[in-house]
Amino acid sequence: MLLNFTFIGLMAPVFTIFDKDSSINTEKIPNYANYLSESGIHGILVHGTSGEATSLSVRERKDLAQAWSETVKNTSQHLMVQVGGCPLPDVLELAKHAEEIGADSILCMPELYFKPKKPRDLINYLKHVSDAAPNTPLLYYHNPGHTGVNIDMAQFLEESTNQLPTLKGIKFTSNDLAAGYAALKAAGGRFTVFIGGDLLLAPAFALGFDSAIATSINIFPSYATGILEAVKMSDVAKAQGLQENLTAAMKIIRSFGPKVPTTKVAMNYVSPINVGHARAPLENLSEEQSREMRLSLGGYLKY
Ligand SMILES: *[C@@H]1O[C@H](CO)[C@@H](O)[C@H](O)[C@H]1NC(C)=O
Ligand SMILES: *[C@@H]1O[C@H](CO)[C@@H](O)[C@H](O)[C@H]1NC(C)=O
Ligand SMILES: *[C@@H]1O[C@H](CO)[C@@H](O)[C@H](O)[C@H]1NC(C)=O
Repeated sequence: MLLNFTFIGLMAPVFTIFDKDSSINTEKIPNYANYLSESGIHGILVHGTSGEATSLSVRERKDLAQAWSETVKNTSQHLMVQVGGCPLPDVLELAKHAEEIGADSILCMPELYFKPKKPRDLINYLKHVSDAAPNTPLLYYHNPGHTGVNIDMAQFLEESTNQLPTLKGIKFTSNDLAAGYAALKAAGGRFTVFIGGDLLLAPAFALGFDSAIATSINIFPSYATGILEAVKMSDVAKAQGLQENLTAAMKIIRSFGPKVPTTKVAMNYVSPINVGHARAPLENLSEEQSREMRLSLGGYLKY
């Protein structure tokens, strides 16, 4: 069977919505999906870093993926489900489940304890995932800052050709744009490479990337759509201006602490969707920090 991965463009790595008691909330998912769809975002990544996948049980991950799969039937958004970050038997169970619920693609982190050292190790690991969901396009999640696994992505893609029949691309979350570009051009450019950094959207699109998955797409979707559109229209000044403002806003948000708790607070202020707080082991911002962020973000609240 020939598997096609046809999604091009912007995908939101959605937050997991927690209620006050830290239980998962699936009821707000249709509103969340509609808000993104109306903002021009036609791709959803469930269980990425922003989704706190590694803080959820297998049962919760299945329930959330299932809820999103039902919702995207209404919104016609592409659904990508990240299945890694847990013991291999659970990874394979999640991959099978993603295929059963009709996910359009699967994303997978590397093994986090017996870490792969070379492309071959990673290919062997992903082969298990590919076999568990043989009818669903697979992408690898490269995020060395979080995983500590920093395999050369161009080399990995070259070596995986004809080895991993379902592999269709990667999510490249690193500020090493030269390495990302090499991955984009690897194996004759046959793989999709999603750029994963909020601060590198304009330069990446200018280099020829056409797809991104970045946290800010949840909070300020109009920056990413505006930058992509400006680059397509060869309006460099506009792309630079929008990137400058997005970078400034993200810098304010991140000055209050680690990425997920701070971006969730920003999401709750800026967007119409309240995603609640982060779950342990991440720590919440204090009320005072949250108020201060709101004041500092004043000029960006319209987005
Ligand atoms: C999908 O849309 C139908 C018709 O509007 C609605 O009844 C249903 O609740 C929606 N389902 C989800 C999961 O959004
Ligand atoms: C960036 O922000 C400044 C200050 O808020 C604003 O004047 C400018 O129009 C913004 N630039 C773009 C391209 O949106
Ligand atoms: C963060 O706040 C939420 C809701 O107020 C709470 O349920 C959760 O336990 C808090 N997380 C931590 C790590 O304190």
